[in-house]
Amino acid sequence: MAKQRSEPKLNVLVFAASLRAESLNRKLAQLAAGVAEKHGAIVTVASMRDFDCPSYDGDLESAQGIPAGAQALKRRLEEADAFIMSSPEYNGSMPGVLKNTIDWASRFRPQPFDGKQGLLLSASPSMAGGNRGLWSLRIPLEHLGARIYPDMFSLATASKALVQGEIADSALRARFEKNIEAFLSLAEAAKHYPCIKRAWVEFLGEQPGTAADRVDPVPA
Ligand SMILES: Cc1cc2nc3c(=O)[nH]c(=O)nc-3n(C[C@H](O)[C@H](O)[C@H](O)COP(=O)(O)O)c2cc1C
Repeated sequence: MAKQRSEPKLNVLVFAASLRAESLNRKLAQLAAGVAEKHGAIVTVASMRDFDCPSYDGDLESAQGIPAGAQALKRRLEEADAFIMSSPEYNGSMPGVLKNTIDWASRFRPQPFDGKQGLLLSASPSMAGGNRGLWSLRIPLEHLGARIYPDMFSLATASKALVQGEIADSALRARFEKNIEAFLSLAEAAKHYPCIKRAWVEFLGEQPGTAADRVDPVPA
């Protein structure tokens, strides 16, 4: 039976980094949302379409500011204690649409990924399930101060593994649910017992100076 967690509940943002309607990653994200709800989290399922942005352009930023898609992601992250992203793998890496939105969102101060707990999932028709893409996705997210959970679930041969919106193999389904439950336990612990307090410094270790200083103050 699902463990019911004590108040206040965890707020978890869940989305898939694919724009297409029949996305396998969207299906996996939906499953993850269901598991998180079963374990007592307050879940917001968002669509990548809400976060889509024009290609990053410093001139556009100077003239018009940060676009609505990145603003929407920032708001969602601010409301959340943790996020779960299910991302396709494109050419052994993350999709450009996701990296572009991350780049835009990284321009806000305070920087909205800093300190958020994150779980990465992927689904792919391939045998590796898109796992290489998740290793590349860790890089910008960890650079931005997100705490990315060590175990990343990648659903291989996803077009066959998902049957009527479920992971058909019961052992695999149990592993998926356990992965999410374990992540939620860590996110809940981090919410109630913050043990690391630090300022986010984008270029840690460089000589302080205006060119390199993109520093968020230590939260109260
Ligand atoms: C441009 C492009 C590159 C791709 N590269 C990979 C890849 O490197 N590895 C992989 O497993 N699948 C790759 N695929 C296949 C995707 O995994 C597949 O289209 C998947 O269904 C996309 O995720 P979605 O269903 O959530 O949209 C690629 C697809 C596209 C369109």
